[in-house]
Amino acid sequence: MSKQLTIGLFGFGVVGEGLYKVLQQTPSLNASVKKVVIRHPEKKRSAPPDLFTTDASAVLNDPLINVVVELIDDADAAFAIISTALLNGKAVVSANKKCIAEHLDELLSLQERTGSALLYEAAACASIPVIRNLEEYYDNDLLRGVAGIVNGSTNFILSRMIEGDLSFKDALLLAQQLGFAESDPSLDVDGIDAVNKLAILLLHSYGVITRPGDLLHSGIRHITRADIGYAEEKGCRIKLVARAVKLKNDRVNAFVLPQFINQSSLLHNVNNEYNGVTIRSGLADEQFFYGKGAGGFPTASAVLSDLSALRYNYRYEYRKKYREQIPALAADAFLKVYVSFDQQHDIPETVFEWIEESHSGPGRSYIIGAIAQENLLKSDWWRQPGVSLILTAEPFVEDLELRSVKRRSLQLAGVV
Ligand code: HSE
Repeated sequence: MSKQLTIGLFGFGVVGEGLYKVLQQTPSLNASVKKVVIRHPEKKRSAPPDLFTTDASAVLNDPLINVVVELIDDADAAFAIISTALLNGKAVVSANKKCIAEHLDELLSLQERTGSALLYEAAACASIPVIRNLEEYYDNDLLRGVAGIVNGSTNFILSRMIEGDLSFKDALLLAQQLGFAESDPSLDVDGIDAVNKLAILLLHSYGVITRPGDLLHSGIRHITRADIGYAEEKGCRIKLVARAVKLKNDRVNAFVLPQFINQSSLLHNVNNEYNGVTIRSGLADEQFFYGKGAGGFPTASAVLSDLSALRYNYRYEYRKKYREQIPALAADAFLKVYVSFDQQHDIPETVFEWIEESHSGPGRSYIIGAIAQENLLKSDWWRQPGVSLILTAEPFVEDLELRSVKRRSLQLAGVV
């Protein structure tokens, strides 16, 4: 027999309102919203006025409410709500990727201490059920890697720039109007939202907990039409890709960077606000998840699925985290990158292990070569306005032999 869910909802924005409407049409779920906590009572809402309150304790201290659904924007306030709700014995569903990614350790301890469940399928790729799949289906050592387009807004902006119908600025504005972008869109544009999601995926993929800010990441802020033109010439599209890869030495490398995606990649046709995730596993080879990763209803769909799972007392067991051997994080790969820059910049060739191609143009120049990941983590020459760094379609330099040969040839040429 499934449990009756009496919900206290925090937030009535795009997702909260979407969820409320969907719940009205899903009586089979045995779930009803008892109270909605909002910040601005003066706003007109499409629900009965007595449903709303500005008093958080009306939900957090109501013993009849057994589930808190947290759908607010502010990550710090969300953490306070989630913690109190768990401590008060309530199950929690949240879509707040920033809050969850930044507090993974504390949230795990709180769940352990209280025995209350926290579910957050909506926090990574919204409607794509990637977290529960990684948690349950890929609960083994065969997971070789996860790579995906996990931010809808940047994918939307890049798609529209590639189509040529909108500039970066106008595409961002439209993403905001359509409800995909964060209220602080620099979280999207600078890859912070994507790296937050990657931190969550890392936990469910490999049991690894890390601060998202410690992972190598960047966004799409400095990508130009010239870069898009270069990609098109090579039959590629530029996508912002979050990636976690299990290395041969059992360590895991994870980062978020823009990349040239060629037509043979399953991510090539993931456009607009859609997300796509490829999962590589030892036996199943490659699998692909595709779906809407942003917006009110797609996010509400994942929240709904979590609510449905709560009826049967589902909770994440974090089995990979509690295994004896958790893989260590490594950031010592060599990456093949394309770096383009305007006339105001002079990119030092010494940052490259080796250079494969370089071109000097009147407006913009570029270099293609191999760079140590550590170099990118420690420096910010490549983050300056006027410089864009994009991974090539096959970014990992595997062959150590080749690497040392090329380095030697670079030394002989007097470059390093
Ligand atoms: N701003 C996010 C995105 C919303 O564009 O993907 C969904 O997490």
